[in-house]
Amino acid sequence: MRTYKIAAIPGDGVGTEVVSAGLDVLRACAARVGTFALDVTPFDWGSARYRRTGALMPDDGVETLKAYDAILFGAVGAPDVPDHVTLWGLRLAICQSLDQYANVRPTRILDGIPSPLRGVHPQDLDWVIIRENSEGEYSGHGGRSHRGSSMEVATEVSVFTRTGIERIMRFAFEVARSRPRKQLTVVTKSNAQRFGMVLWDEVAREVAAEYPDVASDKMLVDAMTVRMVLQPASLDTIVATNLHADILSDLAAALTGSIGLAPTANLNPERKFPSMFEPIHGSAFDIAGKGIANPLATFWSAVMLLDHLGEGAAARALMVAIERAAADPALHTPDLGGRAATRDVTEAVIGFIRGQNA
Ligand code: NAI
Ligand code: MG
Repeated sequence: MRTYKIAAIPGDGVGTEVVSAGLDVLRACAARVGTFALDVTPFDWGSARYRRTGALMPDDGVETLKAYDAILFGAVGAPDVPDHVTLWGLRLAICQSLDQYANVRPTRILDGIPSPLRGVHPQDLDWVIIRENSEGEYSGHGGRSHRGSSMEVATEVSVFTRTGIERIMRFAFEVARSRPRKQLTVVTKSNAQRFGMVLWDEVAREVAAEYPDVASDKMLVDAMTVRMVLQPASLDTIVATNLHADILSDLAAALTGSIGLAPTANLNPERKFPSMFEPIHGSAFDIAGKGIANPLATFWSAVMLLDHLGEGAAARALMVAIERAAADPALHTPDLGGRAATRDVTEAVIGFIRGQNA
């Protein structure tokens, strides 16, 4: 029997609530399938540790993570710590150091969850958003000088490299090829941004030539928001820069009913380093501690984790359980207009996993 080493980083706010639920559900999957075990190590990295020690994680945190098969992450962010400190001190530090350059965000409407879009049903919105996760607008290049004076200057440099663009494009075309419609939309802003985004377009075209069986098109990011809302069925696989996909995927999550449903995987496709799985939402100060966070985004992220480990049967069992929970309004948390608590949904999902044929 194979044992996987899982690093659990709940982080802050609702992150702690949904990761604890996610681990319960993962353990139920392992028990149901019976072919693998999970050896989970929890890490107390996050804002509380920052207040105590001045750092969100220890200096050797990234080295420690390299010994694991996968990472389950919650969210990081607290009202009394600047957001750039928490994000760069933990999540971005991990994604960049472990070269998790492909951020994959499946986006579809689950049966039983109403979309805010009039007349749009599950079959009309089924996308995979691929976010470049290592450079672009979040490369970390820039600086500030003349602080506090009227001459103060700040730069935030977007960095686009041929290598970085090529590998995310190839990854996106492979995902598009693996789906029935074989269709990729490349999001850009090359009308206004003449250097990085023009290179982005050029490399996209070059890589497209290697995939004659995949139909690709190009959309300016502003027009893309309109198309996502008005013609969702015209889209399938989508690739965008770090910033563009960050914004578009929150919109996408809202269109599928709630950000509490949206999962993501930060992948190192070459498997040189562990990949990290997390809900796309943040620590949600407004509902933290109330026990009402929707855990389905984290469960769906756990499906991606199991798939990545090659545990397809367990992944399928968990996805079926998530779909059953989504279909039952009595199991909807307040973000979906219901009254269920995190615990109710978690127990129901575990029950579905135990009861169903894997
Ligand atoms: P957020 O995602 O935490 O919350 C936005 C809205 O969605 C809130 O109304 C919240 O209640 C709701 N929401 C989020 N997750 C939910 C869930 N599981 N169930 C039900 N409702 C849910 O985004 P916000 O408010 O912009 O950020 C809060 C903090 O989280 C900030 O410090 C931010 O930097 C951080 N953050 C961290 C992320 C990460 O660690 N990956 C991602 C996004 C934000
Ligand atoms: Mg975001």
